[in-house]
Amino acid sequence: MASLAPNRPQDIQNERGNPHWVRLKNERELDHIPGEDGWPVVGTTFMQLGDPIGFGKRMVAKYGPVFRTRSFGRRQVTLIGPDANEAVLFDRDKIFSSEQGWGPVLNLLFPRGLMLMDFAGHRADRRALSIAFKPEPMRHYCDLLNADIARVVEGWGEGERKFYPAIKALTLETAATSFLGLPFGPEADRLNQAFVDMVQAAVAPIRRPLPFTAMGRGYAGRKLMVEYFTRLLRERRANPGQDMFSQFALARRDGEAEGDLLPEDVVVDHMIFLMMAAHDTITSSFTTLIWQLAKNPEWQEKLRAEARAAAGGEGRALPFDALAQMELTEMAMKEALRIMPPVPSTPRRALKDFTFGGFRIPAGTDVDVSASAVHADPVLWPEPDRFDPLRFTPAAVAARHKYAWIPYGGGAHMCLGLHFAVMQTKVLAHHILTRYSIETAPGYAPAWQAWPIPKPRDGLQVTFRRLG
Ligand code: HEM
Repeated sequence: MASLAPNRPQDIQNERGNPHWVRLKNERELDHIPGEDGWPVVGTTFMQLGDPIGFGKRMVAKYGPVFRTRSFGRRQVTLIGPDANEAVLFDRDKIFSSEQGWGPVLNLLFPRGLMLMDFAGHRADRRALSIAFKPEPMRHYCDLLNADIARVVEGWGEGERKFYPAIKALTLETAATSFLGLPFGPEADRLNQAFVDMVQAAVAPIRRPLPFTAMGRGYAGRKLMVEYFTRLLRERRANPGQDMFSQFALARRDGEAEGDLLPEDVVVDHMIFLMMAAHDTITSSFTTLIWQLAKNPEWQEKLRAEARAAAGGEGRALPFDALAQMELTEMAMKEALRIMPPVPSTPRRALKDFTFGGFRIPAGTDVDVSASAVHADPVLWPEPDRFDPLRFTPAAVAARHKYAWIPYGGGAHMCLGLHFAVMQTKVLAHHILTRYSIETAPGYAPAWQAWPIPKPRDGLQVTFRRLG
């Protein structure tokens, strides 16, 4: 039986508690990589957090596409460009650890999620969990998404609104129904708050769960989630529904005997991680899409016409079988993900020495690749600030480097929920655009908080007008 303890000993261990983690013997081993260590103690941390894109551009201009920085107390090496993305994400020679790259940020609150696993163990669990994304369950989630989204969007009504908090609340509500099979109510509300506290804590500077700190609240949130999900798992195993959690509850690792389900604590940790991976990413990318559609009314009209045609009339649900017809919506979503990737950079740790761009990089180095830098490169994307979904016609895609666009990552850890994200975006676009036109003040350009997941600082001010 699974322990209900919120944090088993391995949860609170990072560098010191994981003897198998590979470390640099001495940071001087990176002296030969061009770059800078920044200020004493804080290094380049605040420059990177304050303006990651501008900082990256300055570093590339000064040092080239392989550069060294020092943030969060350690030296790191950033590799910029599509070839770098391919080398690190596709990882042909199994050099890079995702567990040890993401671990320092995520291990305390989201241990043992898929991104915190590597190689054979990761492959086995990923395969087991993929059953939740097969066509039949996806068809069921599509029905639930339509019902929730139609009801909430209809209730929004005309007028000015901050779009980001509205879409965040709606996405949490859809997560309760389609991921957990829970009706939205006080229970789901409590879980949502716990979840929001955990996400905040993951990036909190104070890493110990002291009272009144973000990490203290995050730990309390995790305790609540672990207890609640463990009980819910037992119910779902006894009486499965069609929600994603029921799919996970019945998942089996390949090669295990019939009847051997994934252990309870494994399912619970995967589900908690998945909710984190799904939530702010969709919220962020859909906010970018609405911002761009408000600025580009001709594209808004094209997507509206496409949505009407796909649903076969006003006020209808968007059927699962009609999703493939929403081609322009999919291209517009891809362009939004290019302009503002929700996961701006991806960390890994090198387990072996490797060479890139003429530099030898030793085992133990923290390495990262940057979607936001590569997506803004004018050589790959002429006029990178312009919203142009036609960059994603099949011909345009075929003519580009496969790793020039990496919002979902690539290789073994490529986003497991990307088809779900596309489906939810299409259902959202359908219900919003067929009811309202969306406007912003002329010349409006919100400031964006770039880290950890981009969001507009003012919530994105838009005006909804009901269509006649
Ligand atoms: C637009 C929305 C989304 C974006 C941009 C996005 C982005 C990403 C990226 C970049 C990664 C890989 C990180 C790495 O390689 O280190 C990833 C992994 C993952 N994503 Fe998403 N994601 C989105 C939505 C979702 C949704 C809706 C779900 C679940 C329903 C989900 C579940 C996952 C999971 C489970 C992983 C870990 C996969 C693994 O390590 O094998 N994501 N996502």
